Amino acid sequence: MPGTEALGVDYADLDQVEASAKDILHPAVYDFFAGGAGDESALAANLASWRTIRLRPRVLRPAAHPDTSVTVLGSTLAAPIVIAPMGYQRLAHPDGERATAVAAARVGAAMTLSTYATTRLEDVRAAAPDGVQWFQTYILQDRGLTADLLQRAAASGFTAVLLTVDATVPGDRRRDRRHGYALPHADGIDLPNLGGVGLDAAYSSRLEADLGPDVIGWVREVSGLPVAVKGVLHPDDARVCVDAGAAGVVVSNHGGRQLDAAMASADALADVVNAVGDRADVLVDGGVRRGADVVRALALGARAVLVGRPVLWALAHDGEEGVTAMLTALIDGIGECLRMCGAPSATALGADVLARVR
Ligand code: FNR
Ligand code: LAC
Repeated sequence: MPGTEALGVDYADLDQVEASAKDILHPAVYDFFAGGAGDESALAANLASWRTIRLRPRVLRPAAHPDTSVTVLGSTLAAPIVIAPMGYQRLAHPDGERATAVAAARVGAAMTLSTYATTRLEDVRAAAPDGVQWFQTYILQDRGLTADLLQRAAASGFTAVLLTVDATVPGDRRRDRRHGYALPHADGIDLPNLGGVGLDAAYSSRLEADLGPDVIGWVREVSGLPVAVKGVLHPDDARVCVDAGAAGVVVSNHGGRQLDAAMASADALADVVNAVGDRADVLVDGGVRRGADVVRALALGARAVLVGRPVLWALAHDGEEGVTAMLTALIDGIGECLRMCGAPSATALGADVLARVR
């Protein structure tokens, strides 16, 4: 395991990792990764909201060696961490999605591969055959291609599908507009799972604009895999998803990249958990940056969290070693927070450790 000093950056301090990644990355790439929609208020709210949730630790409880493992969407993970689906990872580092998958496997986290990946999905599986990988799907206007991708993912060993439903219309990314929507086209980098289309695909409307709950059953049938719906903030929508056959929901505002006026995902979590009960797994993403944020999410009833941008910063900085070091620091932080909260395991956390100060 690389020491953080050896890599020249403290992987427990993600602001520092982001600042060094910014120095390395092409400005248009950095802005595409970092940016949100509009004036980035949802992006800021995601980060701020976790910190307003204060913990009320329990004492005199044996929790010296907490067990961080969880089972989520049928996969058992050593820690409640899932790498969020993010496209274009070879713009961060030449090893791209392969490196991310290997790092996740090394620490026992799951990795979600985006439809907009810059690596063939079969190659990602082959890079980390012992790891847990999930596949993120959009509903492309080309349903045949969508079905084909889902079947390829299932055949090559992805074990769950995240169906993203909050990006049927493109968010207004001002930073990208400033760069003329131009990402640097490095040699040989394209979107091979979409048939080698160019990198501008994220901005062209290739996605179906009108989706209903029936699409959940369709994805499940075509893939044969458990489906979690990503991009849910309203408890009624979470109920509709579960009624339609979803095995999970991901409480998310897409990292603040879609509706700038959206509430912080941390603020939406409790109502969704309450609506879903034991019928499905609830996951959450957006602004999760430290072990205590993961503990906050678990105490609110999430089964696991997704981590987005920090993976890209670590990848840019040190490739697979960087992502491994970042995830290791995050998992160490979870263990430390569980110990200090008197929680013997990630699954033993409850609302009793939440202070009601909000
Ligand atoms: C994303 N996200 C995303 N989500 C998705 O469902 N499919 C995708 O292809 C992408 N692509 C993508 C690219 C980039 C550069 C970013 C930053 C994000 C959203 C992602 O999965 C997740 O919801 C957020 O990034 C989580 O917030 P944090 O951890 O980045 O704050
Ligand atoms: C984004 C798209 C790719 O957030 O989901 O950039």
